[in-house]
Amino acid sequence: MTTPPPRPLPRFPADFLWGVSTSAHQIEGAVGEDGRGMSSWDAFAAEPGRIRDGSDASVATGHYHRYAQDVALIKDLGVGAYRFSVAWSRVLPEGAGAVNGAGLGFYDRLVDELCAAGVRPVPTLFHWDTPLALEKAGGWLERDTAHRFAEYADVVAARLGDRVDRWITLNEPAEVTLLGYGLGQHAPGRRLLFGALPAAHHQLLGHGLAVQALRARGADGIGIANSHGPVRPASDSDEDRGAADFYDLLLNRLFADPLLLGRYPDGIAEMLPGPVADDLALIASRPLDWYGINYYQPTLVGAPGPDAPTDFAGIAIPPEMPFSVREIEGHPRTAFGWPVVPDALTELLTSFRERYGDRLPPVVVTENGCSYDGLDDQERIAFLDGHLRALHRALAAGVDVRGYFVWSLMDNFEWAEGYTQRFGLVHIDYETLARTPKASFHWLREALREQRPPGSSGRP
Ligand code: FCB
Repeated sequence: MTTPPPRPLPRFPADFLWGVSTSAHQIEGAVGEDGRGMSSWDAFAAEPGRIRDGSDASVATGHYHRYAQDVALIKDLGVGAYRFSVAWSRVLPEGAGAVNGAGLGFYDRLVDELCAAGVRPVPTLFHWDTPLALEKAGGWLERDTAHRFAEYADVVAARLGDRVDRWITLNEPAEVTLLGYGLGQHAPGRRLLFGALPAAHHQLLGHGLAVQALRARGADGIGIANSHGPVRPASDSDEDRGAADFYDLLLNRLFADPLLLGRYPDGIAEMLPGPVADDLALIASRPLDWYGINYYQPTLVGAPGPDAPTDFAGIAIPPEMPFSVREIEGHPRTAFGWPVVPDALTELLTSFRERYGDRLPPVVVTENGCSYDGLDDQERIAFLDGHLRALHRALAAGVDVRGYFVWSLMDNFEWAEGYTQRFGLVHIDYETLARTPKASFHWLREALREQRPPGSSGRP
């Protein structure tokens, strides 16, 4: 079934960390089992019309009961690391207070299974599934949630810290802020527009407090996974450039500037609640050991106006927003309609180095991938091949990139898209929950085998 690429990939450093990513809500299922509490996404999916195919993640891929089989697949693929997330509401069903031993026990077994397979566990502490009790109290709009998050981080570190040496605090706080609280496309479905900005600040504060808690437990190797992509102006006009700069601020600087420079871009701090200056000192005081970037696509942005599109990929952009998102022409598209632009990954990585200089720690691409149907997914092979070459060009240009994680190990619950978008290297039959490696899985396994020095058995 495998069609080998026309030529081998360029050689990556011997200690480069190869991995695959998933998240708890998207794969685990077993929602009501073993004391797991409800999350913001359970409640959101239960609201009519929120999920494209009317589905929810109550079963998902059934990973909770099939984790050993999934770890065996990861081992067979030959990657060195697995990025998964811990469901906060499995560990603390009410978001705070009593610890659910059965929930924590699941991650304990998963980590053991990974270690036994020679695969490094890379847990993400928050991948969007806020415990419902906290969400009902305002979720990330409330400062209190940041403190609860740090307590939860402490509980997880106390249990898993002896076997974990790479941590991720948050996944894509930009999406939680923009899509969850700003535009209402994701849980919790709020449409607060710029009123969502406190959620950005409180996630960053939660990150800072969690880093403190993790370090107090002796944890090392702490990073974050932020979504980023180059933003291009629709034309050279001042209006389009201004709109693109603003979008760039939201996507690329709102989280990176506080984390790496200890300050918000101009004009933002004034819009935030609480002792922002003190919080910023905390957020940046414990430098990250590495910086995770999730990259999918560049964005073409122009000024709003009567002729400008009012939605993007089905998400209505309210007229109050000072930008409009345009279609990028001239590139292949994934099943999701996202343009495939590998060069933009090189551009993104080199632009980060230029923007942040020595303040940028080593980078790991914590997500990159595409949605396509079918088992013989030649388009995914072309996507991965193109992006790995683009990544290698960034390395050659001097960007310190230490790892690359494919999104995703397997097909899963793609948030508001339900099960309509398949991002996996492994196909899931949602009737039987059977796992079938796709052509891209075989291709990647072969590509990784070629990367290993002759005679070496294994993983970095
Ligand atoms: C990212 C999310 C991840 C997945 C991919 C396709 O924004 O972090 O959970 O949905 O997109």
